[in-house]
Amino acid sequence: LRVYVPEHPLIKHWLGVARDENTPPVLFKTAMAELGRWLTYEAGRYWLPTVDTEVTTPLAIAKASLIDPQIPFVIVPILRAGLGLLEGAQGLLPLAKIYHLGLVRNETTLEPSLYLNKLPEQFAPGTHLLLLDPMLATGNTIMAALDLLMARGIDANLIRLVSVVAAPSALQKLSNAHPHLTIYTAMIDEQLNDRGYIVPGLGDAGDRCFG
Ligand code: PRP
Repeated sequence: LRVYVPEHPLIKHWLGVARDENTPPVLFKTAMAELGRWLTYEAGRYWLPTVDTEVTTPLAIAKASLIDPQIPFVIVPILRAGLGLLEGAQGLLPLAKIYHLGLVRNETTLEPSLYLNKLPEQFAPGTHLLLLDPMLATGNTIMAALDLLMARGIDANLIRLVSVVAAPSALQKLSNAHPHLTIYTAMIDEQLNDRGYIVPGLGDAGDRCFG
């Protein structure tokens, strides 16, 4: 498992805004969108496939490196909180197809249940997939999402998981089950409390985005 915590002032800034309990919902949504944007930007660095070509400028022929138009890109936001990251991520990958996945965890058992699955039956070979969920707490939700993706032919090497706060418990599970996965997160937080919330975390991201 590769876990990157990019040292970028904008990521630190928007994480701080998102953590603050006094941040109102409108600004919280902005923070999520910005975190989605900058973490996706970082994730793209060694992930976006390019093709070398030539273009003709008004003055001469120049070498160019363009995003490979043959490679299928998809974004999978995990509802609801993943929608907060989607806006920024989508701005960077405007041609990506979006497949929504609705998973909610039971607040007592902390087990996720699936209520919306818009995934295709099978992904095309070579599909590059950006998976969005701002919170990795017990890791049960993301593990369930990855099971659904793997069953549809996604190569773990081609996934970039973007989260905002990740807890060690989730990273441990992912490391055991998906050693070829790559994660970009704004922070690795210390622990979970007895209700399964990440501490210090940012509260319930879904509620803070959508009330
Ligand atoms: C939260 C969060 C993650 C999940 C993390 O979603 O957005 O998807 O819990 O918890 P886990 O790692 O312990 O499974 P929630 O179920 O509250 O739904 P929501 O996004 O609709 O609020």
